[in-house]
Amino acid sequence: MDPLHGLDAKSMPKIELHAHLSGSISPTCLHEIWLSKKQRDADGAAGISDPLQVLDPSKAFDLVTFFPLFSKYIYELCNDAESISYSTKSVLQDFQDDGVVYLELRTTPRLIKQAGITKEAYVQLVLSTISSFESPTMVTKLILSIDRRNSEEEASEVVDLALRYRDQGVVGVDLCGDPAKGNVEIFRSAFARAKENGLKTTIHFAEAPQSSTEHELRTLLSFGPDRIGHVIHVPDDIKEVIIERKLGLELCLSCNVKFGMISGSFADHHFMYWKGTGCPITLCTDDVGVVGSALSNEYALTAEHFGLEPKEVYELARSGIETIFGGDDEMDKLRKLMW
Ligand code: IMP
Ligand code: ZN
Repeated sequence: MDPLHGLDAKSMPKIELHAHLSGSISPTCLHEIWLSKKQRDADGAAGISDPLQVLDPSKAFDLVTFFPLFSKYIYELCNDAESISYSTKSVLQDFQDDGVVYLELRTTPRLIKQAGITKEAYVQLVLSTISSFESPTMVTKLILSIDRRNSEEEASEVVDLALRYRDQGVVGVDLCGDPAKGNVEIFRSAFARAKENGLKTTIHFAEAPQSSTEHELRTLLSFGPDRIGHVIHVPDDIKEVIIERKLGLELCLSCNVKFGMISGSFADHHFMYWKGTGCPITLCTDDVGVVGSALSNEYALTAEHFGLEPKEVYELARSGIETIFGGDDEMDKLRKLMW
């Protein structure tokens, strides 16, 4: 039986609001970068294994093995202007080819000393790659991420950069990173300044049991985020606040299943709980390069496991329009395009 009843999830216009740039690079693209580094300079890729093996879809990851993949692997491959620009272009192409019409990509400003790239130069590089992509069908905005391991000063620098590059497509600030690390309390002033200056904010929320204490979740909600991501281990009293505020929810089903972040499988995912609450939901990929499930596939899986009719799938795809960070004009365009 066709779970989508003939609906083509790939050609259905979709919005993607939770995609980490470095985690969205396909294994094929990383393999190309790996090969070119090897050809140019055997030492350039010395000790780095082939991405097609490291990121083989059959490989199991959990939250413990997943985060070092960035600092110890993907960042080693994408460590100069050429590879960052090449991989960013490839990520944009992949989302466009999958039928994404509005993309909010997020990335953590990186200092790459050996390539002479400052955090500001990194942001400029990503923004200039986005603007030169000139897609006929997809609008792309950028969110800058604060990593949970950042200091208060580093978080403040991310907000400075987001404000400085606002007129070039930066729309908001995110809090991400290993949920086992950091004290979120220190980011209060950075988020307050972002909001005071009109930036939108989103936060990885209740992603793992360690980052889901009542104290942490209340602290994060006190930052006044516009959207929250994952929303897994949420106590009932906090659920009430989320529902009352009608916060935008970024749900990443395959990521949560693949990394064992929920118990059980798709049918046990908290998507169905949140669907009944009236909070706007957007299905998102999180890290399609590692998870291996494109956004169109997330819609197909959701339809299959929760028995959604095509009409409900379209409704779901539209549900997040009001929560985009790109402003009223973009919202208007999407309302017309996705009706
Ligand atoms: P980047 O910010 O473009 O370099 O993307 C990689 C970064 O995104 C990682 O270092 C993490 O901090 C963050 N990230 C990717 N996936 C997740 C996730 O599932 N939870 C929290 N942070 C994540
Ligand atoms: Zn994420």
